[in-house]
Amino acid sequence: MLDTETKQDGKFHKRDKHEVWDDGSLIVKTEQVPWTEWALPGTRFKLLDYNRNISYVVFLLKIDADATPTIHKHIGAANAYILQGGFYYDKGGVREGDYFVEAGGVSHTPVTDEDGCLLLGFGNGAIAGFNEDGSVAGIIDVDWMIDAAKANNAFAHLENAVRS
Ligand SMILES: [Fe+2]
Repeated sequence: MLDTETKQDGKFHKRDKHEVWDDGSLIVKTEQVPWTEWALPGTRFKLLDYNRNISYVVFLLKIDADATPTIHKHIGAANAYILQGGFYYDKGGVREGDYFVEAGGVSHTPVTDEDGCLLLGFGNGAIAGFNEDGSVAGIIDVDWMIDAAKANNAFAHLENAVRS
């Protein structure tokens, strides 16, 4: 019983589905959220939380081992905890268990390790992707993430959450 239910205030609560509480809190059963294709080739994400006022997103990101390295710029900082695998840049690399800050304003081209990567990411602001000629290929912001998740039926856990 304890695996699927918890007792509080004399009432049992299910522990096997998403929850949105009236105080704004959330429980997201991440295994129940479908993966949605992200903007960079060979990547997919699960949106866990967001704040549109500051273009803030919390997400799981899975990167294939053969994902094409793509130059991008962080208009705000992106933080990540590496859950599996890793990737590297010209300055160094991160592996499972590392916490990583990609500073705001930085442009770089990550190369994924041969076992791919799974990370928990915290994005502040948008990410700009570039074409080979330096022109902007696209902008990934909180609205891009929300729209893509909705189009993939991967937003139900956030649908009733009170968020900015
Ligand atoms: Fe980056």
